[in-house]
Order: sequence, then C-alpha cells, then structure tokens
Amino acid sequence: MEKIVINGGKPLFGDVEVSGMKNAALPIIFGCVLVGKKCVIENIPAVRDVFIAFSILRAIGAKIRMIRKNTYEIDCSHLKVDAVPYELFREMRASYYLLGAELGRYGYACAGYPGGCNIGERPIDQHVKGFEALGGVVNLENAKITVTTDGNGLVGTNIYFDVVSVGATVNVMLAAATAQGVTTIDNPAREPHIVDLANFLNSCGANIRGAGTDMIKIIGVQHLHGSDYAIIPDMIEAGTFMIAAAATGGCVRVGNVIPKHLESVTAKLQEMGVSVEELDDAVVVKGGEQLRRTSVKTMPYPGFPTDMHPQMTVLLTKAAGVSYLTENVYESRFRYIDELRRMGAQVKVEGRTAVVEGGRKLSGAPVRAVDLRAGVAMIIAGLVADGETEISEIHLIERGYEDIVGKLRDLGADIRTVTVEDPPAVQQAN
Ligand code: EPZ
Repeated sequence: MEKIVINGGKPLFGDVEVSGMKNAALPIIFGCVLVGKKCVIENIPAVRDVFIAFSILRAIGAKIRMIRKNTYEIDCSHLKVDAVPYELFREMRASYYLLGAELGRYGYACAGYPGGCNIGERPIDQHVKGFEALGGVVNLENAKITVTTDGNGLVGTNIYFDVVSVGATVNVMLAAATAQGVTTIDNPAREPHIVDLANFLNSCGANIRGAGTDMIKIIGVQHLHGSDYAIIPDMIEAGTFMIAAAATGGCVRVGNVIPKHLESVTAKLQEMGVSVEELDDAVVVKGGEQLRRTSVKTMPYPGFPTDMHPQMTVLLTKAAGVSYLTENVYESRFRYIDELRRMGAQVKVEGRTAVVEGGRKLSGAPVRAVDLRAGVAMIIAGLVADGETEISEIHLIERGYEDIVGKLRDLGADIRTVTVEDPPAVQQAN
C-alpha cells in the first residue's frame, strides 16, 4: 500500500504547470467512440481515471497509442459494442459517457452502472430523460444499462433538464450530434469542459452551438471525421495549487491556465486577502499575512466549484474568525471533515454548511483520502500543519492529479510517496 507523507510548515515558492483537464478529457475520449475515426488528442492528463477509460475502450476494440507524453492517437473505427468490461464501469463516474457515444453511433448502447467518488446521491434520471426524449428505450437491470432504438435512429427534440448536470449534458450532446434534426438542451451545464467537448465534436464535423450558455443547440449531422485536438487546462488542479500557495503563505506562479475559468476562486481568495495577479495564461498567487474570514457557496459554473470545496475548507481554517462553506451540489460531500478534525481543525457541519472556526494551527496526523478532492485537501492540510501527516488511500488522489507529489516537491514541499505494508486484517473473535 502507498501513502503520502508530508512534513508541513514550508511555504510553497516557484512555478508549476497545470495538466490537461480530467473532466474534459474523459468526455472527449469517449467522444472518440462516436466519431469512429482516428483522432489525436493532446494534453491528456496522466491520471487513473483516464487509464480506466482507455481500458474500457480497449476492451471493446479501440486502438490507443501514445504518440508522445500526454498525446494519444485514439482509433475507434472497429468496435465490438457487446464486449463490455462491466467490472470496470464501477471504477469511475464518466464511464457512462460510453452510452451517449455508442447510442449516437450505433443506435444501441451497453454499459455497466457507473461508480465514482462517494460524495452523495448521484442519480442518472436526467441522462435517462435525455436518451428517452431522443427516442431511446433505457433498460437498467443487474447494474447493466442498455439503450435501444426502434431501428430508425435518434430524432432531435427539445430537452429541459430539471437539474444542471454535467454528465447528462455530455451524454445528450454525444447522442444528439448525429441524430436526425435539431436538439435543444435547456438548462444545460455551462462548465468549460462542456464547451471543450462541443469544440472537439465541432472539429470533427458536428454542428453544436451555444455550449457555455443556458441553451445548447445541436444540429444533427450525418458524418463525423477524425481530428487533432488539445484538451483545455484543468481549472480544478489550478485552483488547488492556488489554495495551496495561499494556505502555506508562499508565492506560486500557476502556469498553463485560462484565468477566466478561475474567476470564482480568484474572487474568493482576493476577498480573503490573498494577492492574485492574472497574466495571459498564468496566475501568480501570494499568501497574505492574515487571512480574512468569508462565506462560500458552491454552485454549478460559473459559481464556486463543488470540486474546490474541501480544499477551500482547509484554507478557511487559516482565516481568523468563523467562516461558512455551503455545499449546494452534493449534499454529503462532508466525509473529509472527520479527517480534518483529526488534525485539530475546529469544524462542524450544520445541514449543508461547514462552520469553520479558523485561526488555529493544524497538527500533522495519520488521515485518509475519502475521495479525490477530499484527498488533495488533506495534502494541503498536511502542507500547513506542524509535524508529519501521513495520508492513506492515495489511489483516490491519483484519479485526478498528475504527479501531484512531484509538482509540490518542485515548489519546495517536503512530501514523498512511501510504500508500507498493508495493515493486518481484522479477525473475528471466537
Ligand atoms: C461531474 O460529475 C464531475 N465529474 C464531478 O467531478 C463534479 O463534482 C460534478 O460534475 C459537478 O461539477 C466528471 O466530470 C467526470 P452532475 P457529474 O451530473 O456529471 C444531480 C471530480 O472530483 N443529478 O453535474 O456526475 C447530482 O446528484 C468529480 O472530478 C441528478 O439529480 O455531476 C448532483 O447533485 C467529482 N440527476 C448534481 O445533479 C442526474 O441524472 C450535479 O451532478 C444527474 C445529476
């Protein structure tokens, strides 16, 4: 078993380059199934979820080869749609993008029920609503999902989402890109990764307009062709480094970013007294002497991202006074609070709000990554704490951060990955 060990108390200084965005790479990788021709995708982050996606695609016959670091040729010309590796689907959330992609290409789709981070209830009713509106018949049995059509293919229509869902917006865009006629999505997700997927599909000949606004219009096309495409930078990885710089009182230039995507994080940091300078493709973050308390509410984009919630809570422990963080996307994203308390944080959860009594020093402790973003928040907590922090379950962090340990070490952190023996199994008493 591997753990991350941190000796805290060292401010971060220097430059760090952000990798491609996991949550944009995944829909685009599955989008290659819809395209069905060779595509070359650049800036794919080397993270676990991407490698699981590759394993699913390879199992159904895709040819994937690395051209150079972070650049892959993905060829989905010949697929065996029924050769589904069901056990892999529960390893990640985005595995359900195979459904939209296959449905759009073949009028038939087959996948396992998706897994992903345990951050609250994660229903798929809006995905089902979208597929059915386009003419699909969805069947969910024994954790297997199939979607069939009557043989005449999908037909464009108007779809209104009852909740703003990244995943459902992706799935409907994939399914509708080659449907007959026009599909409109009202109340779609507006995240930069939705825009990135639309740009990728349009580069392959699709006709998708309005991505990033509150109405997406998809004019179905008959054929798609391969393309070369580069994934956008990961705004959540960027925001994580920004908070790590601020929390340790250091000064870091976070490069390869699109500053506009970071506006909600930048605004909150500035409100707290952190200096953030925006350059063309970088931000320079300098921690303040004394951070000010604040209130944060997570929202779909362009609001403050739920995927920055646990990292932000750690920063709030450094601000004098009582701060509030309200989680509006996932009702039970608070499992990491118990871990943070082990390090001396004074945080309680009232309904959907974390109430953080800041200004006390954290101290190193053995803690667990309970999910991806919670895990990286433990790293930030370890960087600011006195003494040694040991983080277990780090495979969850590796789902979404490329070489986080190496990048932080280059910024001056005392951090390393160690291999330790598995803990002894608990035996039942006789
Ligand atoms: C995506 O998950 C991201 N994952 C998540 O990132 C992110 O937290 C989330 O969007 C919100 O930004 C990927 O992109 C792979 P949603 P997704 O559908 O698509 C409810 C990370 O750490 N909902 O936008 O699964 C749902 O319960 C991960 O990188 C329905 O009610 O999220 C939630 O409350 C964690 N019915 C809200 O919508 C549905 O059919 C938003 O979920 C679908 C969703």
